[in-house]
Amino acid sequence: MNKCYSSIAPATFLTTVLFTPLTAIAEEPLQQVDQNYLNELVIRDQGDTAFLQAFEAGDKLSEFDFTANHGVGANIGEGRRFTRFPRADLDGDQEWATHFPKREGGANATSCISCHSAPFANGAGGVAMNVVLDPDHTGDPSQYLERNTTSLFALSIPQRLAEEMSVELYLLREDARQLACAKGSATVALVAKEVAFGSLSLTRISEDPCEVSIDTSQLAGIDADLVVRPFGWKGNHATIRSFTRDAAHNELGLQATELVGAQDGDYDGVIHELSVGDVTALTLYMAALERPVSTVELADIGVIDLAEVQKADIAAGEHLFNTVGCSSCHTPSMTIADPTFSAPSRVAGYADILFPDGSSPEAHGLVSDTAITFDMRLDPPNNQILLGSGGMYHLGALETDAKGKGIACWYSDFKRHDMGPALSDPSDPLGMGASVFLTRSLAGVGSTGPWLHDGRATTLEEAILAHGGEAAVSRNAYAAMSDADAARIVSFLESLILFSADEAH
Ligand code: HEC
Ligand code: HEC
Repeated sequence: MNKCYSSIAPATFLTTVLFTPLTAIAEEPLQQVDQNYLNELVIRDQGDTAFLQAFEAGDKLSEFDFTANHGVGANIGEGRRFTRFPRADLDGDQEWATHFPKREGGANATSCISCHSAPFANGAGGVAMNVVLDPDHTGDPSQYLERNTTSLFALSIPQRLAEEMSVELYLLREDARQLACAKGSATVALVAKEVAFGSLSLTRISEDPCEVSIDTSQLAGIDADLVVRPFGWKGNHATIRSFTRDAAHNELGLQATELVGAQDGDYDGVIHELSVGDVTALTLYMAALERPVSTVELADIGVIDLAEVQKADIAAGEHLFNTVGCSSCHTPSMTIADPTFSAPSRVAGYADILFPDGSSPEAHGLVSDTAITFDMRLDPPNNQILLGSGGMYHLGALETDAKGKGIACWYSDFKRHDMGPALSDPSDPLGMGASVFLTRSLAGVGSTGPWLHDGRATTLEEAILAHGGEAAVSRNAYAAMSDADAARIVSFLESLILFSADEAH
């Protein structure tokens, strides 16, 4: 296992600053981002400029306070534009319950960062920013889902890890298919980045050409298509892009062209509320935001002071975190073989074949030939820290090991687990089990309280003690510890923080 946050990897020291002056998009905050303009830059071999302009445009979009003439909000009914709770009862002509795509909640807000705000922009959110959802339009508050706002930093890390895991799983499935074709049947254990996802059993049902039937009943923590979905508390979205267009619709009432085409699905009199280029820009922005850090790492590079006793407590807590089995789900680190983020993705299952509106991404210029890519180890623009020694430390970029390989300290196995009845949602609209949740990343967890999917835990200790189901054994081991050891685990979790050099000044 690689050591996380060990600020020694030379590959993250930069000699040049990556910013170039921005033009066009950056100066026009309200102008929609034109995907074809970004494509032109890529074609003219200015992919780095395309990336930086998209990042800058995404920054503007995520903090922009949209107004009615941009189409923010929706025609809720009763003359309202926003609602904090679902209104299945408002089902009159063009009202809340008739919008397409079917509303899950909202519209709630006029900017992304009005919820993603703690401890600073793009972070998590307090309980006042919780979202209430009624995807099945039950109109029954006892069935509503409550969701706490998560952080948006460095989302290239979960997406790239999930992409690489899925590729491993696809290959295992293909090997098993060939074996089943040769021998009649085959069973394969699915393991990706050392995480076990159960098994598949394949049976040949016809020869020449060979066809197999696949029994997916023994899969664990993953969907039958073997796409690892690293986003959302339930682990139900594969990509930043798909989450973003749903969030824009449900939370802001901004309906992207790729979601509804030229229709006015929320009856607010505005169409084309977000362009394909806008969604690309938001995607690249969140992908390339600075990664969460640890206080130990900040102390090592001289940004903060940390007493030796605190360092010792954190190290002891990290050790206990591993020995009581927290790390069996919250995997501390994983290697990223190819730390190149690509929008659109080049991995099957992570790029839209068709947009939700039925149009092809190609028709809008979103093609892999002109994909905007960035190197996660070098290109994230933020958190380039000037050291006391005069050197530059690229704290915002993906960590690397001694060989320059990307190391992600995300503290998740990207698998869904049954957390027991006490943590259950009141209803199960996705049909994956009401008490089943994705192992939540602990990267930055010291800065993202309150915790758990509905924000019920006001302290880290409460969050740990609320674990049940598959996590019951390690939760009980934590509960049985001495107070001093339990406090060490919490000190370790508190050392994992969000940090923005811009906010620190
Ligand atoms: C009303 C509050 C609110 C607003 C406004 C909001 N979000 Fe969120 N966001 C949430 C909540 C709550 C979650 C967790 C949802 C879940 O998992 O079901 C979330 C999760 C996300 C995630 C998934 C992160 C992860 O690691 O799983 C992304 C991406 C995201 N939001 C992007 C956006 C963007 C982009 C906007 C603006 C277009 C936006 N959000 C506006 C509340 C909000
Ligand atoms: C069986 C897998 C599993 C094990 C073992 C496990 N966790 Fe978790 N953990 C999860 C899942 C799933 C969630 C999200 C649950 C939810 O939101 O309802 C979570 C959430 C958390 C959170 C809240 C994160 C947030 O952003 O709100 C903390 C803190 C946490 N775990 C710490 C621990 C510690 C410490 C241990 C060991 C004592 C541990 N976990 C053991 C699966 C696990």
